[in-house]
Amino acid sequence: MIKIAPSILSADFANLGKDILDVEQGGADYIHIDVMDGHFVPNITIGPLIVEAVRPITKLPLDVHLMIENPDAYIADFAKAGADIISVHVEACRHLHRTIQHIKSQGVKAGVVINPATPVESIIPILNDVDMVLLMTVNPGFGGQAFIHDVLPKIKQVASLAEERGLSIDIEVDGGVNPETAKLCVDAGANVLVAGSAIYNKEDRKQAISSIRSNLS
Ligand code: DX5
Ligand code: ZN
Repeated sequence: MIKIAPSILSADFANLGKDILDVEQGGADYIHIDVMDGHFVPNITIGPLIVEAVRPITKLPLDVHLMIENPDAYIADFAKAGADIISVHVEACRHLHRTIQHIKSQGVKAGVVINPATPVESIIPILNDVDMVLLMTVNPGFGGQAFIHDVLPKIKQVASLAEERGLSIDIEVDGGVNPETAKLCVDAGANVLVAGSAIYNKEDRKQAISSIRSNLS
């Protein structure tokens, strides 16, 4: 079962509630929330306050992607605000096992993220401990960038490692996902697709979600 996680980074923030309901009714599986601090990435976006405001308006799991330095300092705040999944970048964690344990101790699912140029080898030691691996298919920071095709073999690599070890981890991709690239990702082994501009830049979000799904089979 392939899950679709619209990224609210491309939503209309003056009408965020409406834009979240729109994708929920349009068949989304998660709401992907991009948290940026202006240090780890060159952009500043959402804090726990927005996650807390969004929590009561949707039944969908909130998939919180932390693109921040020192994520440990904010994990409890995001969990308390209502995150269901919290993902941290391997490039931002000095003590990755400690950080992943910290996320789990808050009662939420834990994900680890790698940038396009970071090798899969960097997350092998943590694979047994995470619920999800997120492979960035753009360099994080902005919506609407072009998909980096060199990540496709990395998706395959994570999928076969998970299979070898009998792990049922989710494999998520994020960045430049549209109906064409979604198919490439799913064929490589991804099962959670983040899409920002491919959904929110379309007038009919339900149609945008269906056209991603219908291109997969
Ligand atoms: C990029 C963010 C993505 C972004 C994806 O830094 O992590 O979640 O919103 O946007 P699109 O789908 O437009 O590439
Ligand atoms: Zn993201």
